[in-house]
Amino acid sequence: MRAVVVGGGTSGRAIGAAIAARGWAVQVSSRRTGFDVLRDDVAAVLRGADVVVEATGRFTTSRRRATDFFVRSTTAVGSAAAAVGARHVLLSVLGCERPEVQGYGYFAGKAAQERAAATTGAELSVVRSTQWHEFAEQNAERFGVGRVALVPAMTIAPVALTAVAAVVAEVVSGERRERCVEVAGPRRTTLLAMTESLPAPGVRALPLRIPGRLGRAFRDGALLPDVGTEVVGPSFDEWLTARSRH
Ligand SMILES: NC(=O)c1ccc[n+]([C@@H]2O[C@H](COP(=O)([O-])OP(=O)(O)OC[C@H]3O[C@@H](n4cnc5c(N)ncnc54)[C@H](OP(=O)(O)O)[C@@H]3O)[C@@H](O)[C@H]2O)c1
Repeated sequence: MRAVVVGGGTSGRAIGAAIAARGWAVQVSSRRTGFDVLRDDVAAVLRGADVVVEATGRFTTSRRRATDFFVRSTTAVGSAAAAVGARHVLLSVLGCERPEVQGYGYFAGKAAQERAAATTGAELSVVRSTQWHEFAEQNAERFGVGRVALVPAMTIAPVALTAVAAVVAEVVSGERRERCVEVAGPRRTTLLAMTESLPAPGVRALPLRIPGRLGRAFRDGALLPDVGTEVVGPSFDEWLTARSRH
């Protein structure tokens, strides 16, 4: 059996490894391997594939730019999957469709992506997770200069990317057949606490209070999982400790 992972970032590599561990042939394709999902022939890359995992990303807070990127990516991937008879597995963010976070352009783009993915004709599964443990470092890169970073006030239940990747691999292999899987980490924390816990040389976190309804929503836990959501992987602190041993 063969899978293609479109998007070669941290998540694409982790998902590729989890699928390969199940004995599947995996190809990870992104611009650094010479494949641009917005310009190239996606069906040609998917030929012979049973499943395609879409793990592309473009960070922007602009609703227009996020929507444009995510809808074009998923339309290209889903249409090509339908054309070659592959299943489409989309990586998404738990809660991105909630009304109170639509003021954040990135989430509006992800919600639009989920809607567009459902219309391409491919057999679709969406795996939604909370923010990954790696998110503290991603945020520090996106909103930082040197070792100083702006950190928005957010209450979240972060999850280990490797645990999310294992769930994606189960969906790819057909061990799980749900059309929408939601997973979260075991503990509630804040992005500020996570950033302040990062190991040396660390990041000097400057708390950023986002004004208005969106800021309140982020602070009050609009991105937290509903009661009963599947919990996977270690807590952020356990993950940091394990990582420091490697
Ligand atoms: N970060 C989180 O905490 C989190 C949590 C839940 C869900 N997610 C979702 O998971 C997905 C992946 O997130 P991420 O943080 O790994 O994203 P990312 O690091 O921003 O981007 C993922 C990869 O997309 C590839 N890419 C971008 N434009 C491309 C293009 N035109 N053609 C082909 N590949 C392209 C990039 O590889 P190249 O540069 O090589 O092209 C990049 O490494 C996103 O949809 C995100 O919303 C993220």
